[in-house]
Amino acid sequence: MKIGIEGKVVVITGASSGMGESMAELLASRGANVVLGARRTDRLESLTNRIRQAGGQAAYRQTDVTKRGDLVQLVAVAQQQFGGLDVLVNNAGISQLHYMEELDIEGWEQMIDVNLKGTLYGIAAALPIFKTQGSGHIINIISVAGINIVPTMGVYAATKNAVRTIGEALRQESEGRWRVTGISPGFVDTPFASNIKNEQIRNTIQEKANQIAIPPEAIARAVAYAIEQPDTVDVGDIVIRPTVQG
Ligand SMILES: NC(=O)c1ccc[n+]([C@@H]2O[C@H](COP(=O)([O-])OP(=O)(O)OC[C@H]3O[C@@H](n4cnc5c(N)ncnc54)[C@H](OP(=O)(O)O)[C@@H]3O)[C@@H](O)[C@H]2O)c1
Repeated sequence: MKIGIEGKVVVITGASSGMGESMAELLASRGANVVLGARRTDRLESLTNRIRQAGGQAAYRQTDVTKRGDLVQLVAVAQQQFGGLDVLVNNAGISQLHYMEELDIEGWEQMIDVNLKGTLYGIAAALPIFKTQGSGHIINIISVAGINIVPTMGVYAATKNAVRTIGEALRQESEGRWRVTGISPGFVDTPFASNIKNEQIRNTIQEKANQIAIPPEAIARAVAYAIEQPDTVDVGDIVIRPTVQG
């Protein structure tokens, strides 16, 4: 039985930057074996090297969470290299923020594919292993955007709230076999906003983030807290935002 973080095998999607990168470094420094997924392998490779040079254990695989098979392959790396899967962090996410009347249907579909279906594909890859092991832990990175609904974030918030709902159902269905945690960040200092296509909305979000965003380590510490609890303790929902965020 693994207690705490030491020796646990933790798969993290969206590990090539921001919060995922920060989680990988923190958890590896505390003895986890981390398996990193994202599309940009140059960044995953250098992160893996940094972790190994610091004495940690890490592996990576190119992963596009919109492809179900990529998630299956990613958890297979965890099994092959580290002998199992204790935790899956569904962290990969994107936002394409627009007013609904602009009909950015492509952006809606991208968010549904990455934020919602990508998370479901992760859960689908992990559950057969959790069932065999009789244990496991899913951690979903959600968003405060799903709690405070504001203009331009409707579809983004919807994908995040769908994940919140699915997580609660999964927790209840587990009947004690696996744990489920949802973490909802507010403004966090990552490159997240830089991918928003609408320039005006991107600049507004970026300006706000520049003023108040908290470092990604704040979210990494929450992930560590959820993982390190005893198996009998399920950390449900955590909201973490800048103290000054309204
Ligand atoms: N920053 C914030 O203020 C904030 C607030 C609330 C919630 N969040 C949530 O936090 C999570 C992490 O975001 P972040 O702030 O750390 O932003 P980030 O630095 O942009 O990280 C997003 C990660 O998702 C990955 N990703 C995007 N599309 C992917 C795909 N199709 N397949 C696999 N990986 C994909 C990216 O990697 P590749 O491009 O290499 O694939 C990247 O590693 C997201 O779920 C986001 O919704 C962020």
